[in-house]
This record gives sequence, structure tokens and C-alpha cells, in this order.
Amino acid sequence: ERYQLWGGCFEEEPSSVLRRLNDSLPVDFRLFHEDIRGSQAWAHELHRSGHLSDDDYYAIENGLREVEKEIEEELYKNGKLNDTEEDIHSVVERRLCKHAGDAALRLHTARSRNDQSASDVRLWMLNSTGRLYATLKELIQVLVNRAEKEINIIVPGYTHLQRAQPVRWSQFLLSYLWLFRDDIIRLEEQRTRLSRCPLGSGAIAGCALSIDRKKLAHHLGFDDITPNSMFAVGSRDYIVEFLNWSSLCGSHLSRLAEDLIIYGSREFGFISFSDQFSTGSSLMPQKRNPDGLELVRGASGLLLGDSLAFSCVLKGLPSTYNKDLQSDKELLFRSYDKLTDCLKVMTGTVATMQVNSERALQSLEPGMLATDLAHLLVRRGVPFRRAHHYVGMALRRATALGVNIRELPHQEYSAICSDFGTEADLQTVFSWETSVEQYTSTGGTAKSAVEEQLILLNSWLRNH
Ligand code: ARG
Repeated sequence: ERYQLWGGCFEEEPSSVLRRLNDSLPVDFRLFHEDIRGSQAWAHELHRSGHLSDDDYYAIENGLREVEKEIEEELYKNGKLNDTEEDIHSVVERRLCKHAGDAALRLHTARSRNDQSASDVRLWMLNSTGRLYATLKELIQVLVNRAEKEINIIVPGYTHLQRAQPVRWSQFLLSYLWLFRDDIIRLEEQRTRLSRCPLGSGAIAGCALSIDRKKLAHHLGFDDITPNSMFAVGSRDYIVEFLNWSSLCGSHLSRLAEDLIIYGSREFGFISFSDQFSTGSSLMPQKRNPDGLELVRGASGLLLGDSLAFSCVLKGLPSTYNKDLQSDKELLFRSYDKLTDCLKVMTGTVATMQVNSERALQSLEPGMLATDLAHLLVRRGVPFRRAHHYVGMALRRATALGVNIRELPHQEYSAICSDFGTEADLQTVFSWETSVEQYTSTGGTAKSAVEEQLILLNSWLRNH
């Protein structure tokens, strides 16, 4: 007997163009492991609760294993499945008929593709987000390693891309580390909502057979079950959360990419990229381009677009399952793949780039210590607002005389405010090292404060 998944009450075949729009196998074949896991668990529960005979259960169980092997081999050989069925669920069931005979006709008892596909995707995400943690952690580890090794390097810090204050290179690196650490925490927080099994929700109304949904869910590795059948088949909030998350993580990557591209330009020259993570020009032989970082920066736009696209699909849908929801997988897989590649390219780029600390030092200018001069006055009791103004006056004088504030003669300072002190007092301010070492409070750029961050991050890494 060869039954289609549906079609009993139809007289004609669907039009070929509808088939093309409707078929999701080219996308959802990636769920075949999860689909088979889900079917095994479903058969197991039907059998346990007395709805499937021993013989049928064993036939299905063995058959599913055959189907899995067969699909694995075909995907390995061809990279795709040539079945004519519309989706992976239909493919697995159809192939099972070959191996399990009539027992296969009992597998879909009380199940719908609505609860089945939602369960498959949730399972896939539970596994895949585990791989994403690992990928993100590699990036974090590479940043930690650099931050530890290069803690003595001082670079110009920028606000508005204008030279602001000297900071430790490690402080800059760690600023990204904290972003990525929060990304991991955010992803973990989604897990409680993701790890609920919809199986047993049927198409919309639930399951009319006595099965134990909790047992089934735990069997599959879910923490919990969905609490309402209509919610279970209609909600894709876990996809929305993931896509939003990806676009946020992507924007962190984009920002880092942009900083590194700028720092890698000849005009800045703080870093240079390895051959492995640079590309050349077909015309200009001298070119070394940071294409990898540019692709990462661009990808963050694509991730944001996909996230928005799916929210647009959901907006205005009536409740429960509608075929619009089928696009969830295309966007999910695409974002997941893109983000994974971007994380890996970023990790490789950061791990292999060279830092030119000399060049960074040369880019520091005494004007970046103006804030420290104001703090010198504050320590002598001058109100900050007044101190700010005095230092501003000194800067104006220096510009008028064509010198920098380190070269401004001492009497010019004394004329503005006697609290600037002696020439020697003033000169103590003009040291990059002294400057950064003032920022000792938690989160600051002094060595001790940076080391404190490293201790926290390392212990977090060990416990994760
Ligand atoms: N391929 C479909 C999807 O991924 C499976 C669910 C189909 N259900 C239905 N009632 N047409 O969304």
C-alpha cells in the first residue's frame, strides 16, 4: 500500500508551481536526525502506552534506523535528497514503509506534522546552540589570551573616533569580551523556553490517546512540555528570540570588525592581518584587504534583515499553524550558518593578527592627557568645572603658540592658575603609563583593574 501523506479526498494532483512553492525538503532535510529521533520517541511512547504492538514497534524502530543510515549515505554522496515528497517528515515516513511494511502506517497515529515539525526544530536548536556556545567561547578565549599577553600595550582610546584618552589595549579587547559573554548568557536564558516538547499536541487539539507527554519529552532530552496544544503548534517565539539574538551578536561582531578594519588601515597601523585572513586585489599587487572582517560587518546586516523578516511573517497571522510558518527553517538555518562562519572568521583574524605597539604609542599625543591635567587641579582643591576651563585655556594658548600642552612653558600654566604647581609637578602628568594607572577603580583601564576583569572572565570560562 502506498499512501500519500494526504490526498485521499483529492481528485487532482497539486499544480507543479504550487509544489515548488510548497516543497520544503531542500531546506528541512537538515532535520532528518531530529525527525527520526522524534519518531523513535513517538513510537516508543505509543508502544509503552499500549497503542502499538511489540512487533510493530520493533519493525518501526529497526526501520527508522535503516532510514537514518540510508539518508546519511545519500546526503554524504549527493549533498541532497532526491525524493519527490514535499518535506522531510513525508520522506522519512515514506521510506519507512519500505523497511517496516504496514507497521509504518501506524507511526503517525495521533501525530501531526504540526507538532512534529515544531518538535524537530526545537530539538535541532537545542543541539545547535550547544555548538554556538563552543564557537563563541573560542572567540572569548582568543580575546582573553591576547588581553593577558598584551596588557602592557597602551593605545589611543577613541570617542566619536577622535583621540580621547590613553587606554590599555587589553581594556579595549575586554570591552568586546564582556559583550560576547553576555551573548552566551542571553542564549542560555532562551533555553528554558526552547526546551519544551510540543509532541502530543497533534494538529491543534492535543492527543486523544492516553500517552505520557512528560515521559516522551524527557526521553527526547527536553526539560519540559508545551502547556497548550494551540500554543505549541502556532508559536515560533523561540525562532524570533534566536534570530533577534543572532542579529545582536552579529552587531557586536560588526562593531569589532569595524574597529579592527580602522586599526588595520595604514593611517592607524596598530594592527596587521595574517595572510590567512587577508585577501588581495586582482589589479593592485600591493593590496592586502580585510575582506573577512568586511564580510562579518556585512553579515550583521543580513542577520538583522532575517530577524526582521521573520517578525514580519508572524505579524498578522491567525492563531495555530499556518503554512507561513514554514519559512522559519530557512531563516533559522541561514542565520545560524552565517553567524557560525562569522564567529570563526573573527576568531581566526583576532588570533593571527599582529599588534604594532610602537605605532600605537606614536599615535598618542599629549592633548589626550588634558583630562589628567584637570584631575591634577582637582586633587589640589580646584572645582572640576573650573579646572576643565583652565586646562581649556592652556590648550588655547598652546595652539596659539604652535606647541602641544606638554611643551607649553611653565609660566603660561602659572599665569592661568597657580595650582598647576611646579614644572616638575606638571611633567608627572605627561606619562602614558601614569595616566592609565590612575584608573584603578573597578572596570577601569589601570593594570590592576584590567587584571581583575581577567580573573572574573577566566573563572567564568572555567565554570562554563
Ligand atoms: N513542512 C511543514 C513545515 O515545516 C510541516 C508542517 C505541515 N503541516 C501542515 N498542516 N501543512 O511547516
